Amino acid sequence: MATQSDTMTSGPAVHGRALASARANGAQAADARPKLWFDGQIADVDALQADLTTHAMHYGSGVFEGIRAYATASGAAVFRLPEHLERMRRGAELLGMQFDAQQATEATLATLRANRHRDAYIRPLAWYGEGGFGLDVSGRPQHMMVSTTPTLVHLAGSRARVAVSSWRRNPADSLPPLKLCGAYVNSILAKRESKARGFDEALFVDRDGFVVECTGANVFAVKDGRVTAVEHRDALPGITRDTLMTLSGAVSRSLTFEELLEADEVFACGTAAEVAPIAEIEERRFGDNPVTRELAALYARVVRGEESASAQWLTPV
Ligand SMILES: Cc1ncc(COP(=O)(O)O)c(C=O)c1O
Repeated sequence: MATQSDTMTSGPAVHGRALASARANGAQAADARPKLWFDGQIADVDALQADLTTHAMHYGSGVFEGIRAYATASGAAVFRLPEHLERMRRGAELLGMQFDAQQATEATLATLRANRHRDAYIRPLAWYGEGGFGLDVSGRPQHMMVSTTPTLVHLAGSRARVAVSSWRRNPADSLPPLKLCGAYVNSILAKRESKARGFDEALFVDRDGFVVECTGANVFAVKDGRVTAVEHRDALPGITRDTLMTLSGAVSRSLTFEELLEADEVFACGTAAEVAPIAEIEERRFGDNPVTRELAALYARVVRGEESASAQWLTPV
């Protein structure tokens, strides 16, 4: 959905030389200064700078994740961390980057601890860095960072008004549905258009009239009590979608836009959005959404470790 967190940062491309001064300054820094993990070290966020030749800044040659930590009764825990890092690994592999999931796990936990964050949005980013402007990334310096921010309440519990995008989703045979930085320009265009039209969010529909997803969230429909997870090859295989399918027994299948409009309830879901009810799609207004409400409440309990299903999905900080 309107992923505040997803649009919040495309990540500073951090200059290696700046790191040395960041480490030096870090020694005197007050503990409360926000920290991030950069290339193996925890550093003060404001001591780091981007090199203007950073490849990812020019061409989007990076891969990121959007992950959340939640306060549970036994302390902070990260929700489905291995699955997020596996998706990131696939994106990194595609770009020819080294990616060490164990290191990324430790970096994530270290950043949360350094910032003393409990309910937090976590943004790991791996990217190609400084050098010339050629498109060949072989031998290019590679960097990684992990940033955490206290969680913003997504859409403040409101029900979103959604416009159908005139832009098509990146087709999977042009840009695979992974969290590749450059791919998100497609979401930015759709989001800009929907906001300009007075809506909160955009829905991608393909040329054949099938629903794809929102700019940063997957789509579900509820009809006569049956829950359907919209399936499309161009949509990101969402981890929240997978979680909700497991919890609700939802069927995964492709859905036409007409079918979506005929649904009793429609909601979007994602790490940042969680379970976000949709109030309107263009001129179609949806009424009460009891199934969505129930699923949203169940999801909230699961991520906070209050359900039996939770244990398998939580990594303690
Ligand atoms: C385009 C897109 N679709 C769907 C999702 C939902 O995925 P997840 O549930 O893994 O966060 C996201 C968020 O990461 C996204 O950016």
